[in-house]
Amino acid sequence: MRLIIATVIAVLAINIVQAGTAENVNKSDEFVATHEWQVIREGQGIPKGLHVRINMQTGVKEAKLLDESERGTALQSQAGEDDKGDQKPLALEHQANIIEESVRKAKEQKRSYAELRKAYKDFQKNFRTDGEVIVQLLEQYRNFSKTPLASELKPKFNVLDNLEYMLHQIDNALVFIDSGGLEDVLLPIVVNDTNTDLKVSAMRVLGALTANNPKAQIKVFERNFGSHLAQILMTSTNSAEVSSALHALGAMLRKFPLAQERILSTIGTQAFISVLSNSQVELRNKAKVVTLISDLLLEKRSAFENNMDASEAIAQYALIELETWLSNQGYCAKMEAVLSKDYVQLLDQPETVEQFSVALESTEQMCRSLWSKSATLRHALLTLRNRYARSEDEYRLEVSQALTKVCANFFEQRSHSDL
Ligand SMILES: *[C@@H]1O[C@H](CO)[C@@H](O)[C@H](O)[C@H]1NC(C)=O
Ligand SMILES: *[C@@H]1O[C@H](CO)[C@@H](O)[C@H](O)[C@H]1NC(C)=O
Ligand SMILES: *[C@@H]1O[C@H](CO)[C@@H](O)[C@H](O)[C@H]1NC(C)=O
Repeated sequence: MRLIIATVIAVLAINIVQAGTAENVNKSDEFVATHEWQVIREGQGIPKGLHVRINMQTGVKEAKLLDESERGTALQSQAGEDDKGDQKPLALEHQANIIEESVRKAKEQKRSYAELRKAYKDFQKNFRTDGEVIVQLLEQYRNFSKTPLASELKPKFNVLDNLEYMLHQIDNALVFIDSGGLEDVLLPIVVNDTNTDLKVSAMRVLGALTANNPKAQIKVFERNFGSHLAQILMTSTNSAEVSSALHALGAMLRKFPLAQERILSTIGTQAFISVLSNSQVELRNKAKVVTLISDLLLEKRSAFENNMDASEAIAQYALIELETWLSNQGYCAKMEAVLSKDYVQLLDQPETVEQFSVALESTEQMCRSLWSKSATLRHALLTLRNRYARSEDEYRLEVSQALTKVCANFFEQRSHSDL
């Protein structure tokens, strides 16, 4: 019998107690998983591949590492795994696991057979499997009225919040998609909703269900989310909205050359440049854009380096001319302008500087002629380099070294060739 992990979830009543909003996320506050269930705090991010359960009555979420026995059968999302292509959607039938667990629990407590039966009955009544919970959450969402009601906002956030946690798992994401979740929940919010926080939550769910899940990436692409996300990037200046749109777009595009070609050759590159150009978008989000650009360029380069055979994927990567599209949209000049104008803000943001410095390196070939002649860019980079070089903090010193390398590359070689 094929055991599938049974994330058993109490559904005593779908009472919404806890409201998850988009604002209070603390990413630095990491969840450290063990083999015991631990409560996930409000807004706390969790790593991929954990076993998650949600108590629908109290809103409490818990996570733990998968046990060894579950590892072989639990279909986890793990970066870099390529053989997920033929995984089947999660079956909704997990009774065997539920019985096993309830018997085990009862035995631990040394109960009589009658008590054990009762315990099992209670257990069965109160717990649901992942697939069932997802279907139920969808039904709950469909029950909301078509016209936005303020009173329904909290329950909506709660549904999205729970989905975000559950849809990191590949099977759960596919159940959600097969049950119409993209069309009935996410698309209407992302496309038409006027509540920014709700859009942010929906895009987080989209990012969670798409990340490292090729089948989901295809479905999300087919539903035209790429254009909708790009549209949001071109019009929004809300920090959380830009950030979650970038995350969802990146999750859809990574390792999916066909989508990269279709989206980036048109509206996608335009959206990237628009974020870089918008003076109201904060530098952290601009750094996210250049990081995504850089990742996509490196992804194509490494596909060519590592994959010698003329596979279909290579043929698709060959059609992606991201550098040309970026150049045509003025990437080099925008990047120069952002750094020349805003570098002062970067004096105390080493992570952001690091992201920019990686991007400067991976796009240097296309921009070298412009950047190496730019006195303002040179001044900005050297100022940052010198500032971090004076630090005693190891990370800042590393950032300074990376900048030294970038500067040497652009500005010293020029004087060489000038000779
Ligand atoms: C995030 O959590 C860390 C550790 O608990 C804390 O030091 C930091 O101030 C928090 N940041 C925000 C923005 O809440
Ligand atoms: C949705 O509404 C129907 C009809 O009013 C009701 O029977 C059902 O229990 C509701 N489902 C959820 C999950 O709220
Ligand atoms: C968005 O709203 C328009 C106009 O009301 C409607 O025609 C369209 O179907 C909606 N799109 C989605 C995805 O709900």
